[in-house]
Amino acid sequence: MASRSQDTSSISFTALYTGHVWYANGLSAPAFHTRRGSFFYHALAPFEYVGGKMAGGNIRTFLLQRHHLIDELVREAIEQRGVSQILEIACGLSPRGYRFRQQYPDLTYVEADLPDMAARKHRLLSSQHCLNDHHRVVPLNIFSVDGIDAMETIAEKCFDRSKPLLVITEGLVNYFSLESISPFWQRLQTLLSSFAGGTYLTDNYPLFHDHPLHRTMKTLGGMLGAASRSEVSFHFGSDEEATECFLSCGFKQTTVHNPKDYYDRLPIPRSRGNPFVRVIEART
Ligand SMILES: C[S@@+](CC[C@H](N)C(=O)[O-])C[C@H]1O[C@@H](n2cnc3c(N)ncnc32)[C@H](O)[C@@H]1O
Repeated sequence: MASRSQDTSSISFTALYTGHVWYANGLSAPAFHTRRGSFFYHALAPFEYVGGKMAGGNIRTFLLQRHHLIDELVREAIEQRGVSQILEIACGLSPRGYRFRQQYPDLTYVEADLPDMAARKHRLLSSQHCLNDHHRVVPLNIFSVDGIDAMETIAEKCFDRSKPLLVITEGLVNYFSLESISPFWQRLQTLLSSFAGGTYLTDNYPLFHDHPLHRTMKTLGGMLGAASRSEVSFHFGSDEEATECFLSCGFKQTTVHNPKDYYDRLPIPRSRGNPFVRVIEART
């Protein structure tokens, strides 16, 4: 793999925007409101309008689709498969841990992000008196392979290997090329295999080979990459390519969930045409 900097904190500001999307759509509590998040949210409104007209669904559409869909799969894992331990990597200002801990008080929920964002989330949740042995916020960098901010170290410290573990990343992986993110997925598979059952949930943005706006999407990805100084990329040209990739990383079973299959079950906005986002569920 080409050598790359482990400091990817230039991406972190995007969590203020998504945090405000969750807040503005009733998924969060007042403490999650930030002035900068609100500013980004309103500043992007004109682009949202144009995006909605051109691409058949704006940014908020696919953000809400992915967030509700991940919530649904987490609920299913807890209620139907007895999952009681969750690690949410790149948690940003997502209210998921806050909401799920309220709904399932026996759950162990560890939220993780780069040090500055983790410190911010720690302050936020402390102010709500949420944190204890079952709900923590820790610094974690997906590119650290050892040391205190490596996911392996955190898993060792926070979770019980005799029980299943569910790991979430939301809004993270498409900031990296497939070449950069694949070693993380391989390490994650190894880690999850050491637990009594492992599930990984992540959103992913495919760019279908026959997508009518192929070039436009690439240009928009390039703009987001420039703003966040990252390698924003589309990893897969089809759902089958995504499945094959996770199988080749060692996961035994992979399902690519399309939001349109959940329109009747979840309170999600609908895209015109094929939705732009998928949620991948990979199990060991
Ligand atoms: C678009 S935000 C998503 C936040 C949250 N998951 C959500 O959906 O609202 C991307 C997040 O990835 C985090 N991040 C960036 N690089 C990371 C890395 N190397 N390891 C862990 N988290 C990282 C950022 O700090 C930021 O919180």
